[in-house]
Amino acid sequence: MIEQRPAPYTDVAPSAAVSAAAGGGPGRRRRHVLDLDDYAPAEIEEVLSTAEAMRGILARPIKKVPTLRGRTVVTLFYEASTRTRVSFEMAAKALGADTVNISASGSSVEKGESLLDTVRTLRALGADTVVMRHKSAGAPYLVASEINASVINAGDGWHAHPSQALLDLFTVRSHLGRLDGLKVVLLGDVLHSRVARSNLWGFTHMGAQVVLCGPPTLLPPASFGCDGLPWPATVEYRVDRALEGADVVMALRLQTERQAAGLLPSVREYVHQYGLTEERLAMAKPGALVMHPGPMNEGIEIDTAVARGVQSVIEEQVTNGVAVRMALLYLLSGLSADQARGA
Ligand code: MLT
Repeated sequence: MIEQRPAPYTDVAPSAAVSAAAGGGPGRRRRHVLDLDDYAPAEIEEVLSTAEAMRGILARPIKKVPTLRGRTVVTLFYEASTRTRVSFEMAAKALGADTVNISASGSSVEKGESLLDTVRTLRALGADTVVMRHKSAGAPYLVASEINASVINAGDGWHAHPSQALLDLFTVRSHLGRLDGLKVVLLGDVLHSRVARSNLWGFTHMGAQVVLCGPPTLLPPASFGCDGLPWPATVEYRVDRALEGADVVMALRLQTERQAAGLLPSVREYVHQYGLTEERLAMAKPGALVMHPGPMNEGIEIDTAVARGVQSVIEEQVTNGVAVRMALLYLLSGLSADQARGA
């Protein structure tokens, strides 16, 4: 959709992980969160450790700090969402920010207002951060290059969903204690999955091995890459081979709303070949984590017994989303540790 990306950094190098909840933190430098492809491992580490501190805040009886008091976070969603939008709203509120939620229906978008006019209006009304979801890949990059506010990509077409990937990394690390050296299998409709793309960057930046598994029609072509880089993952069409020795298995939704016709013989055939069942899960490492970004089609890409089984961390992914999004909002805010403490 756009030719050019805005530079995501100013010229200050990433610094060490933060030391204390919303009151701590190094100098801020990133203005936007558009995808994880340009994140350095140290920066991902900083988000994860900040999220850990935020989880501490959420465990308190009063789950609220005034760190972002006086700031306004707008969620601008041109596509349906439950967990992502609510999770950002809860995160912003837990940090004391004001929140405004806008969806395409019921706004001036219905009267034909362009995306850029909408975001310029939001900025003029005082939005400090715009969390946006759009059906076109690249839309958040365009907005980031045009407005003087922070932009967080909450899903753009098939392209990216960085906050989901960060919460996935956070959930895995909370359970397994590390990311480096893990075997992570992304199973199912990888082709249409923005979650898969962001996870691929996130996990590989942190030293994990990513295996993409699904029918050939639902996997990106082997030569597919981002910015001319080779795709940093292994492609495996056979589930048994993909799952062998896996530490993490993430089932992906069959995204029929994005698929062209003719990619699968039938849903039944797909379930038979690629559905994550208990038998298949047994091929992974004992205790391997079962994940799903939601929303789930139980009985299609994942059996109910697996989705609700002891190895599943799917609900925790949702819970952790709030702490991770608090971390992102805080890190983007540009507040110094002293300002945050005095807030
Ligand atoms: C997304 O917005 O991409 C979701 O979190 C995953 C999905 O829609 O399957």
